[in-house]
Amino acid sequence: MAEHINDFDVVLSATQAKALLQARGRGEDALQISPDLGLSKVMVRLEEKGVVFPNRMRVLWSELERILANPQACFRITSERASKIQAFSDQFGRAYSLMPTQTAPTLLISGITMHRIKGVDPMEDTRRKIRALAPFGRVLDTATGLGYTAIFAARKAEEVVTVELDPTVLEIARLNPWSRELFTRDNIIQLIGDCFDYALDFPDASFDRILHDPPRFSLAGHLYSTEFYRHLHRLLRPGGRLFHYVGDPSSKSGRNTTKSVARRLQEAGFRRVIRKPRAFGLLAFP
Ligand SMILES: C[S@@+](CC[C@H](N)C(=O)[O-])C[C@H]1O[C@@H](n2cnc3c(N)ncnc32)[C@H](O)[C@@H]1O
Repeated sequence: MAEHINDFDVVLSATQAKALLQARGRGEDALQISPDLGLSKVMVRLEEKGVVFPNRMRVLWSELERILANPQACFRITSERASKIQAFSDQFGRAYSLMPTQTAPTLLISGITMHRIKGVDPMEDTRRKIRALAPFGRVLDTATGLGYTAIFAARKAEEVVTVELDPTVLEIARLNPWSRELFTRDNIIQLIGDCFDYALDFPDASFDRILHDPPRFSLAGHLYSTEFYRHLHRLLRPGGRLFHYVGDPSSKSGRNTTKSVARRLQEAGFRRVIRKPRAFGLLAFP
C-alpha cells in the first residue's frame, strides 16, 4: 500500500469512519487509514475537533459520525465537511451515487447497481468481462460508467474508445479514486452521447474488440436490439469479438435475456455465440 497522499480529494466511507471513531474511543492520537476507499493508506492525526490528513485536509468528528450512519454512500471531504458523492441528471431524470463495497465502489443509477457486488466484487466483475476479449487491439467500450472496463482494457489494448450517455456519470467518476486512470491514460478516448448513434457513424471494421456492458434492458432497450447488434457486427474487423454483459444466467430474467440476446446476435450476423456464465455474458464472433 502506498504511504503518500496525493493532491486528489479525500474520499471516505463508513469503513474508514468506523475505524477512526473506534481509535478515538481507545484514546489513540494517530491511525493508518485509507484516504481513497482502500487504494492506499496514510497516517492521520486524531485531534480534538476531528481528523487531519497528511495533505492538511481535515474532517470533523460529527461528520465522521454522519458517514458511519450512511454505509451505502461514499463521501468527499472538503473544508472539514463530508458531502455525499451523488448527483441528479435533469437531462435524463436519473439519480446517481457512488456506493462503497469491500473494494472498488459501484455506481447506483436510480437505486440499481451497475456492477456485480454479491459473491464477486466490481473488480472481479470487470476482470471476468475483460478476460473473454483478450488479446485486444482497438477496443470499443459502449458504456463508460465508472470506467472500470475501459481502464482494464486500456492496460492491454492499443486504444479504447468509450462512450457514456450522461455527462453526470462522468462527474461521479471524476470523484471516484478507482476511476482515476479513465482521466489520465492517453489511450482512452472518451465520447459523450448515445452509443447507438455513434455505432451508426463509425466506419466498417473500426474495432478488433467490442465490450458491450449496457444498463439493464428496462433502462436502455435499444442497446439490446437486432438493429444495434447489426452495427456492432459491421464495426468488427475480421477475427474480432464482442463481449455482451447480460446478467445472472441462473436468474429467471437473466436466463430469458441471455436466450433472446443470443438469438438476436445471430440474426444480426454473428456466426458463433458462446455463453460465458462466469462473466454473466455472451461472447460473439462475426
Ligand atoms: C453497467 S454501466 C457500465 C459500467 C462500466 N462498463 C464500468 O466498468 O464501470 C452502464 C452505463 O451506461 C450508460 N448508458 C446508458 N445508456 C447509454 C447509451 N445509450 N450509450 C452510452 N452509455 C449509456 C449509463 O449511464 C451507465 O453509466
